[in-house]
Amino acid sequence: MKDGSGIAFLLDKEDLLHDLAALIGKLKRYFPTTSKAISLPISAKLQYAREKEDRAAKDMEKEMVVADVEAQTTEKQEAPLSIFKKSNRPVTLKFEDVVYKVKPKKGGFLKNSKSEEKTILKGITGMVQPGEMLAMLGPSGSGKTTLLTALGGRLNGRLNGTITYNGSPFSNAMKRNTGFVTQDDVLYPHLTVTETLVFTALLRLPNSLTKDEKAAHAEAVISQLGLHRCKNSIIGGPLLRGVSGGERKRVSIGQEMLINPSLLFLDEPTSGLDSTTAQRIVSTLWELANGGRTIVMTIHQPSSRLFYMFHKVLLLSEGNPLYFGKGEEVMAYFASIGFAPSFAMNPSDFLLDLANGVASDESREDEDPTVVKQTLVSAFKTNLADKLKAEVQETGPCRQDGAEDKQFARWSTTWGQQFSVLLRRGVKERKHEAFSTVKIVQVLVVAFLSGLLWWQSDITNLQDQIGLLFFYSGFWGFFPLFNAIFTFPQERMMLEKERSSGMYRLSSYFMASAFSDLPMELVLPTIFVTITYWMAGLKPNAVNFLEALLVLLYSVLVSNGLGLALGAVVMDQKKATILGSVIMLSFLLAGGYYVQHVPGFIAWIKYLSISNYTYKLLLATQYSPNEAYPCAGNNGTCLVGDFPSVKLVGLDRQVLSVAALAVMFVGYRLVAYIALMRIGVTRK
Ligand SMILES: Nc1ncnc2c1ncn2[C@@H]1O[C@H](COP(=O)(O)OP(=O)(O)OP(=O)(O)O)[C@@H](O)[C@H]1O
Ligand SMILES: [Mg+2]
Repeated sequence: MKDGSGIAFLLDKEDLLHDLAALIGKLKRYFPTTSKAISLPISAKLQYAREKEDRAAKDMEKEMVVADVEAQTTEKQEAPLSIFKKSNRPVTLKFEDVVYKVKPKKGGFLKNSKSEEKTILKGITGMVQPGEMLAMLGPSGSGKTTLLTALGGRLNGRLNGTITYNGSPFSNAMKRNTGFVTQDDVLYPHLTVTETLVFTALLRLPNSLTKDEKAAHAEAVISQLGLHRCKNSIIGGPLLRGVSGGERKRVSIGQEMLINPSLLFLDEPTSGLDSTTAQRIVSTLWELANGGRTIVMTIHQPSSRLFYMFHKVLLLSEGNPLYFGKGEEVMAYFASIGFAPSFAMNPSDFLLDLANGVASDESREDEDPTVVKQTLVSAFKTNLADKLKAEVQETGPCRQDGAEDKQFARWSTTWGQQFSVLLRRGVKERKHEAFSTVKIVQVLVVAFLSGLLWWQSDITNLQDQIGLLFFYSGFWGFFPLFNAIFTFPQERMMLEKERSSGMYRLSSYFMASAFSDLPMELVLPTIFVTITYWMAGLKPNAVNFLEALLVLLYSVLVSNGLGLALGAVVMDQKKATILGSVIMLSFLLAGGYYVQHVPGFIAWIKYLSISNYTYKLLLATQYSPNEAYPCAGNNGTCLVGDFPSVKLVGLDRQVLSVAALAVMFVGYRLVAYIALMRIGVTRK
């Protein structure tokens, strides 16, 4: 079989078979009635040819796979770092009778309370041992991602059945020993490939490695995944051109490979890649599995070469298992229950056809897809289900290593390290947005415009000056609120991904994101006040100016906290924005400037209003209680404190306002923190 002419002959023959199959397909399309008569004798010949060569082709394909992997491995064996060596702690994954149900949510006011429950996974059993690679196949919507998420311990809700990892349920230690590559890549668009991987390395790799060693790991992964050419390009996103989709996918895979996980889940790692790159990635995974790791992936359309690399295959159809077992035995199994392809074809194509209820067998051609699927489901139940369950239960509890468990149960880095890495990453990622030209221009335009409108106003026009102070509190209530509202909803996916892999504490993330926003939050209002204050001719005195600036910055921080809390609680940008504008408008209305005679039953609302406190403090920076201003009656002078819109808020008891704002400053952030605690919590 090894001589060249034999292979060439075989390949020619295989090509010929494919051509004949295509021809039959075409004939069927053009002559629907005669096609059967034509196809039968040809298919009989094909069947004969197939039987004779099937075994030989399979053997050869396997040889090719091994040769291929070996060829690709030689290059990687030189990788100096431990990532590609043996697994730290082998994991046997078992799952029995996994059932998952959802109640579809219906949006809007017209909710149908009797929405029907949908069963997405209908009792799936299986086992993957260290050194094995399981591929889940099935048509779109068959439940692959759902099952993968459940196995990865990330599916909340109505999940029944048992999933064990070395005989025990999912734990924090397992979380840090597991890699999970999601179907959609969740990456920061403004970071480069290297930055992304280095930040991940700094956060996820243990402290026994130095910073440089962690960076070297990231480099090793870059070369392993062939990302050299794009290592300094930014990742990009829907609105920002960055690296290609396939490169992005590889970065996601790299992030998980970095930690040398013993259990690796990948959702469609090869989708969107050309067959050579797909081959390369699966070879890398094959190699990782060979090092004693357990690998589970979903995959669409693997080529037949890839197919034979999988140690185990799970075929799903609408949440039902149709096959679980060795990849090389799958064709024999389906042949034994009467489903054999009428010509040589890629086994994965054949399996997907079956899962869709399309039998490529001539005799079953006219069968209804639902009937075919039903037949396959019951065949699985009678032939494989019991055997599989017995096998899963038979394999006794696996090695438990308490000491290693403890090592994984801890955070891999200290709070301070997490904070500093997250802060640097946050600043890098958000500086583009925070200091966007649009925002700066927006603030400058408003600043100059109000400076001109209030040009050198003086105390004779007290109403105008007070109007400006109230405008300060209004504008700088809304602006930071809307900036902050987007922070957490935008980061939700990232937080979910990173928290569910146990990358950092929520507190370090929270502090880092609060601090990384600070520069922008404080610089813009400072510029604004500096421009308007002097243009509008408020008290020309450094002390008064600094007081006004400090009050405004303080209120900006409080509004910012409110925005963070709203974003974190609602977790939906649109809804949070609407809610935010309603709340801020109520605060403004209750601020004490627009309406002085408020009915008692609603007067309490001013105690909740940030604008009310800010307005009061701003007034105090400009006027003292016994300061007078020129007015019409009363000997030509009146007390500022008696001016209607000042009198209501008063020029005394500023300490109370400062304290009230302090309570809000802390309170809103606390609410945000508590709301975030629900994100990325994994099933235990
Ligand atoms: N939370 C949910 N609410 C409603 N339906 C859901 C939910 N989760 C999953 N589904 C449904 O369950 C089915 C399986 O979804 P899943 O994402 O697992 O499919 P898949 O096999 O990964 O498909 P694809 O190959 O397209 O990624 C789909 O029909 C999906 O609409
Ligand atoms: Mg999917």
